[in-house]
Amino acid sequence: HNYQNESVDNLIKHAQIQQAATFLRAGETVAFPTETVYGLGANALSDIATGKIFEAKGRPSDNPLIVHIAEQNQLVDIVDNIPPLAIKLMEHFWPGPLTLVLPKGKKVCKSVSAGLDTVAVRIPQHPIALALLKACQLPIAAPSANRSGRPSPTTAEHVLEDLSGKIAGVVDGGAAGVGLESTVVDVTGKVPMILRPGGVTMDQLRHVVGEVLVDPAITDSDQKHGDEAFIPKSPGVKYQHYAPKGQMWLVSEDFGLEKMRERLQALVKRDREAGYRVAVLTTDEGVDQYTADHVVSLGQRNNLDSVASKIYASLRTCDQMGIERIYAEAFPKSGVGMAIMNRLLKAADGKMLGTE
Ligand code: TXA
Ligand code: MG
Repeated sequence: HNYQNESVDNLIKHAQIQQAATFLRAGETVAFPTETVYGLGANALSDIATGKIFEAKGRPSDNPLIVHIAEQNQLVDIVDNIPPLAIKLMEHFWPGPLTLVLPKGKKVCKSVSAGLDTVAVRIPQHPIALALLKACQLPIAAPSANRSGRPSPTTAEHVLEDLSGKIAGVVDGGAAGVGLESTVVDVTGKVPMILRPGGVTMDQLRHVVGEVLVDPAITDSDQKHGDEAFIPKSPGVKYQHYAPKGQMWLVSEDFGLEKMRERLQALVKRDREAGYRVAVLTTDEGVDQYTADHVVSLGQRNNLDSVASKIYASLRTCDQMGIERIYAEAFPKSGVGMAIMNRLLKAADGKMLGTE
């Protein structure tokens, strides 16, 4: 069904949305599209309901969930108090791909916050997500709707690939928008801190609230893989995520795109001669320059939004094609590039090759 041009109020009346809302009210799990990736939802006020999310995903119980709401007034049940900084951020970025970590309210069930005294909340922007949240009149806990450790789903097909038979259903709304998860920002301290880079960029945040920090665990693990000194404040960040079945490496662009492509093609050639099935993740500018078993363009280098939207789907395609080794071009870390590089490095388990 094409929901793009329908209003939230119209969508609420759809049989699919009503059915999904009924499942959610009955304590079942339902997957639905958001403007970032597909989420797997359950009643955030019920431990039994949210327990089903952990079970379906195979998610470690110490990894808390994001609570999704349709309107700011629902916060009264979920959070304890709202710092002024947080209000500013909500006004600018909600509905949208920004998740705020706030002091936890009493009604939120234990498994949602995984025992922390904070809770992560966002108002999504996707009309179907909003219609579903309004129809069920509950705060809905929803992590990405993939099996734990797999690339996040950006289509309903991806959801079924991972969770078919394990959930009550999925609302199919076509491809999700951004393609990468929301930015998670801790607003419980004096200065907001990015715990996970995502759809809302650091520059956008700084524009609204001035100083913004980045959890050192993120920047550090992006650079020095394997250093145990930093434990991320966002529990989910420590798990190896987004992993394709094949091994993956990034190739640095620090010494120019030409050097990057030369090195990358040499690696592909070596591995193919050794008998591996090899894929390359590149952009429109690079597609013609590689010979591999599978060459994917993520869009254009000067349009990082298109790159972001295609990463997860391209990793899943590599899996389906039985790709054993993936080489990906690196991107600049500015704008949404910060989230792109964070996800690519995770998929590559931190492995980045230089060109000098
Ligand atoms: O875009 C998104 O955020 C998607 C869609 C479905 O909304 N959801 C999503 O959820 O990505 P999930 O569970 O895959 O990632 C949630 C992240 C994890 O890294 C988790 O550790 C962190 O948010 N998180 C949740 N609650 C937290 C808390 N109280 N403090 C710190 N980090 C928290
Ligand atoms: Mg996830």
